[in-house]
Amino acid sequence: MILQRADRIRGTIRVPGDKSIAHRALILGTIARGKQVVEGVPQAADVQSTISCLRSLGAFIEEMPDGRVLNLATDFTSGKKLDAGNSGTTARLLSGLIAGHSLYSTIDGDRSLRRRPMTRVTTPLEEMGAEVSTAEGGRLPMTIRGGNLKGIRYRLPVPSAQVKTTVLIAGLLAEGKTTVEEGVPTRDHTERMLRAMSASIRTDDGSITVEGGRPLSAVHVKVPADISSAAFFIVATICLPSSEIYLPTTGVNPTRTGLLSVLEEMGANIERVGGESYLEEPVSDLVVKSSLLRGVTIDPKILPTLIDELPVLAVAATQAEGETVVTGAEELRYKESDRIAAIVDNLSALGADIEERDDGFVVRGPSKLKGNQVSSCGDHRIAMALTIAGLLAEGKTEITGSEVIDVSYPAFFNDLRSLLR
Ligand code: S3P
Repeated sequence: MILQRADRIRGTIRVPGDKSIAHRALILGTIARGKQVVEGVPQAADVQSTISCLRSLGAFIEEMPDGRVLNLATDFTSGKKLDAGNSGTTARLLSGLIAGHSLYSTIDGDRSLRRRPMTRVTTPLEEMGAEVSTAEGGRLPMTIRGGNLKGIRYRLPVPSAQVKTTVLIAGLLAEGKTTVEEGVPTRDHTERMLRAMSASIRTDDGSITVEGGRPLSAVHVKVPADISSAAFFIVATICLPSSEIYLPTTGVNPTRTGLLSVLEEMGANIERVGGESYLEEPVSDLVVKSSLLRGVTIDPKILPTLIDELPVLAVAATQAEGETVVTGAEELRYKESDRIAAIVDNLSALGADIEERDDGFVVRGPSKLKGNQVSSCGDHRIAMALTIAGLLAEGKTEITGSEVIDVSYPAFFNDLRSLLR
């Protein structure tokens, strides 16, 4: 993809449905009584990976022409090889689902997913009674032989909603109670959806307990627009002059809106208009306008609420007056790419003043970015963040490997073009 500096962006943009919520709605639908209807499932390769793995496991999932996905019934079958593609959420959450059933299955993924750590899910699943084997270093492919699990109390060693959810899914299928304790809050879509599905779930100041063997009731899930996809347009609008966008029905669950809070602290003009709930998920329209930013130091405790937005936040920081400091973010090194290295190398190539730390980065702004050749590093969020940097840079920016954006947002460039004025 080749980009030129943009003058401004304006208009209304409906970004795809929230990927995290869609994965959960589809997976939990396989263990619910009745027909789970999921509306607003994003056209994203990651979610397609979940659908095709669930089908291989025996789920009967129908994709309707109007975009709704119906999860009708599942007759779990053993011995399948599942391809999670690029999706860490698919691989990890499905490990919990398989562990909870008397079946075995092997999960594999692409080159990026094969370098990501799976021990964080295999440790608690083994403690619950599953048999798990992995490739060297706790990587994919991993084979899980499940069934007859016992509930456990598990303290998350790293803040991770994927691990929390994996243990909770296995816990729903285990004997007795399962409690997950988290030191800092991570996204709570699973807890909210389980409540909506009438699960026996209790949340109590950093701990979540589910009771196994209780039936879940299927629900009609409306998936809000994904704040993590909206993030790219939000930052572009703030950083370009005379810009304004309207983002309808965006998910504003407080465990996901760290980017909005940090940008507001930096001086951004973001307004929430109206508000409603999709089941238990808060949703609001957002109006975003051009703003002058100043640098901030981000409290490591809120990192899980903006973990996927740090690449694009780094782009915003290049336009802010003063220093923006991110520390305590070592988890970024284990995402679809080593996101600390990817952010620092690429933004440096575009002329930003950015310094790498083991657990984060420091940006000094404002910088006049200059077009250059940069790389997606095989990571959708890096590619989209660099696209926004390309709109701010003088001259021509070329992003290699930008097709990886299909992982979460295949219509990204079309949607962006519709806003350029
Ligand atoms: C996700 C949780 C986060 C996030 C990922 C989606 C989820 O990962 O980065 O994109 O849906 O639970 P971790 O749980 O590994 O932090």
